[in-house]
Amino acid sequence: MTETLADLVMSRRVLVTVGAGGVGKTTTAAALGVAAARRGKRVLCLTIDPARRLAESLGLETMSAEEQVVERGLFERAGIPMAGSLTAMMLDTKRTFDELVVRHSSSPEHARKLLDNRLYQYVSTSLAGTQEYMAMEKLVAVKEDPRFDLVILDTPPTANALDFLDAPERLAEAIDSAAMRWFVQAFESTGTLSLNVLARSAAVVLRGLGRITGGGFLAAMAEFISELNDLFGGFKQRAKMVEEALRSSEVSFVLVTSPAPMSLQEVVYFSERLESSRMPRGAFVVNRFRLPPPGADAPPSERDAALAIARHKLVLDEDAPGRLVHAHADAERLAALDAVNVQALDAKARGRVPIVRVAELASDVHDLGKLGAIAEALMSGGV
Ligand SMILES: Nc1ncnc2c1ncn2[C@@H]1O[C@H](COP(=O)(O)OP(=O)(O)OP(=O)(O)O)[C@@H](O)[C@H]1O
Ligand SMILES: [Mg+2]
Repeated sequence: MTETLADLVMSRRVLVTVGAGGVGKTTTAAALGVAAARRGKRVLCLTIDPARRLAESLGLETMSAEEQVVERGLFERAGIPMAGSLTAMMLDTKRTFDELVVRHSSSPEHARKLLDNRLYQYVSTSLAGTQEYMAMEKLVAVKEDPRFDLVILDTPPTANALDFLDAPERLAEAIDSAAMRWFVQAFESTGTLSLNVLARSAAVVLRGLGRITGGGFLAAMAEFISELNDLFGGFKQRAKMVEEALRSSEVSFVLVTSPAPMSLQEVVYFSERLESSRMPRGAFVVNRFRLPPPGADAPPSERDAALAIARHKLVLDEDAPGRLVHAHADAERLAALDAVNVQALDAKARGRVPIVRVAELASDVHDLGKLGAIAEALMSGGV
């Protein structure tokens, strides 16, 4: 039988929320954290740039790279009994990279040298893919931590959900490519580079590393690449190892999407990629699913609307009943559209991967009550 999302929450050690920008990855990660903690799990939620008001509602005004236990009283006041605990931690790309360098360096001097390198400063903050890759590194670092039963990893806002999976390779390509190796060798053998040689390869190299200018750049780059490769015995291998950690049966991916066709298409593609790379797809979450407006089976007439306005003693424009009827019809149409669009996902999942629909709430999710409601919707199979 297919495992439900609730089964995954209760049995996996790691859940990773992925999806296109803005679909609700962070909200889903936080809600799953609340759901699991409520049921007795000691949860660590590794989050990325949560909406300020969401962080505030968790009492995390100073959301930082330090672990912060969400105060139990906050949940209780929101009517959420807590049998376990929820710890939140904000992912800090640069800091994760720094920690990695310090951990793997043969000496503190070695680490210092790399940390002070100007290119390192760039790569550790701005190179495409670094943020996604460091999210995976952080996961590797914390996933065996005995203080937690469940680690939930939120992923960075990418335009394309697949950027997350491609990050190790892209990053390894950029800093461990043939062009780079050639570059380092050329530099190491002569201690300097003639501009001629550089001219021929500069385009390739700079495409990988972005535009950095200024004196000492070449020396800094060559030093950086060789130091980094010394450190990890080849960055490519390191990236492969990190990617491998995501293949474990202890891990499940929660693929978050909106009900919009483009977003659904993307998440289906992502899920196929997971399957072909033997990574465990866990569940689809269709977030912000629009439901038909509540009420009578038959659409309301203008007369019904006028009566309802009078009953509630509302003082509105005279065309308000007409507009209400229109709004009702629009809401019905949108709900029908979402239902049809999501059928395409049903066909793809073929009952093998659960699909949980989470309703679009009337406002953003920034209080614990709403987060708790989403948590329970996720656990009960959705709407
Ligand atoms: N079911 C919902 N109903 C209403 N609003 C929602 C719902 N889910 C999420 N939101 C709101 O949508 C916005 C985006 O959500 P969220 O930050 O979780 O998305 P994300 O995928 O993490 O975005 P990013 O890619 O930028 O990291 C937030 O303001 C959130 O409160
Ligand atoms: Mg987010």
